[in-house]
Amino acid sequence: MLKGKHVLLGVTGGIACYKAAALASALVKQHCDVHVIMTRNATEFITPLTFEQLTGNRTVVDTFDRNHTFQVEHIALAELADLVLIAPATANVLAKLAHGLADDMLTTTVLACRCPKLAAPAMNTNMYENPVTQDNLALLRRYGWEVLEPASGRLACGAVGKGKLPEPEDLLEAVLHALVRPRDMEGLKMLVTAGPTREALDPVRYLTNHSTGRMGYAVARAAAARGAAVTLVTGPTALKRPAYVEAVEITSAREMFEAVTGRSGEQDIIIKAAAVADYRPACVAGDKIKKSDRGDDLALALERTDDILAWLGAHRQPGQFLCGFSMETRDVLENSRKKLEKKGLDMIAANSLRQAGAGFGVDTNILTLITPHSQLELPLLSKDQAAHALLDEILRLRRGPEPV
Ligand code: CTP
Repeated sequence: MLKGKHVLLGVTGGIACYKAAALASALVKQHCDVHVIMTRNATEFITPLTFEQLTGNRTVVDTFDRNHTFQVEHIALAELADLVLIAPATANVLAKLAHGLADDMLTTTVLACRCPKLAAPAMNTNMYENPVTQDNLALLRRYGWEVLEPASGRLACGAVGKGKLPEPEDLLEAVLHALVRPRDMEGLKMLVTAGPTREALDPVRYLTNHSTGRMGYAVARAAAARGAAVTLVTGPTALKRPAYVEAVEITSAREMFEAVTGRSGEQDIIIKAAAVADYRPACVAGDKIKKSDRGDDLALALERTDDILAWLGAHRQPGQFLCGFSMETRDVLENSRKKLEKKGLDMIAANSLRQAGAGFGVDTNILTLITPHSQLELPLLSKDQAAHALLDEILRLRRGPEPV
């Protein structure tokens, strides 16, 4: 996802420095070129060598060990960087950055950077809440910085409160959000559904399926990174709610129907990646169903749920793009095309549960994008890449045919 991108990671002196190492590693795994500049204090917590080993680039510490090449190098680095991320950012460094002080290698280089900048403050709660720090953060925002919200929890000083550095995966998400280009979905509203639904049988049990929500979450994240205003209607999943996305949590197919149809009117694009239950128990027992009441055999009476996508097809807003997902075990393309036509869709993304690398619970997928007039087979891709490829195709179709 970050191939060809250069990130300048500024590491300042706080106990959370160890998370910066995990972040550097995660960035490198995304094929990002990572250059680390540490403050002297940061080296008390973690060694420059750690970052050198992880990134394959020399870790820069401060201006006093500089020589002529180095001076030139730091400006070259400022020009090379596609993004600056200071993580963890101490109150001291934030104050310096807010006021243009440049007294070490990190602040000097960052002052010369014109690219987008992110700061992830991490400090004691009282320091974070101090109006001086808050004013400095407000100043940085005014100068165009994105300031990430610290997490709450037990801090290294023993206090419990706000001030923890977000986890490396959250920092990575912020980098992806800031760097993924093009921002070609700016101004578009998109609704995505994801995950399974649960249909209650009694207060203890429910009917559901194996959907983990990964594909829908990847689509929501990708669209938000490309600038869309994304609403994610999600069934119960173990996944972290993506940042930069409005998440609406539902449990049953009926709740998903209400959440989606109540918001569908204002959407430019709707993508239904959720695995919605087609049937629910015809009556939900008020008390736990007991074996003693039912004997050895139990037959469940089921009734159909509403087909949300078919409703959307029948109540489509002018210009609205509707995309469904179709998971099949046989006759994938034929069955999926039937759904496309029956539900009145612009596109259906078909995948087979029988193909290795596709389907539930894996990080990859093999999608065929079917429209009334075309069929595009995507190769085996990560779900993130597949999400971007799906959005590329939707945007291409929305634009209409290229002039000849
Ligand atoms: N879908 C929906 N509401 C339902 C059932 C399905 O909106 N009650 C949507 C899914 O979110 C998906 C698409 O319809 O985008 C296709 O779902 P799928 O389960 O593959 O097909 P069904 O239409 O349910 O048909 P069948 O179960 O017979 O294969």
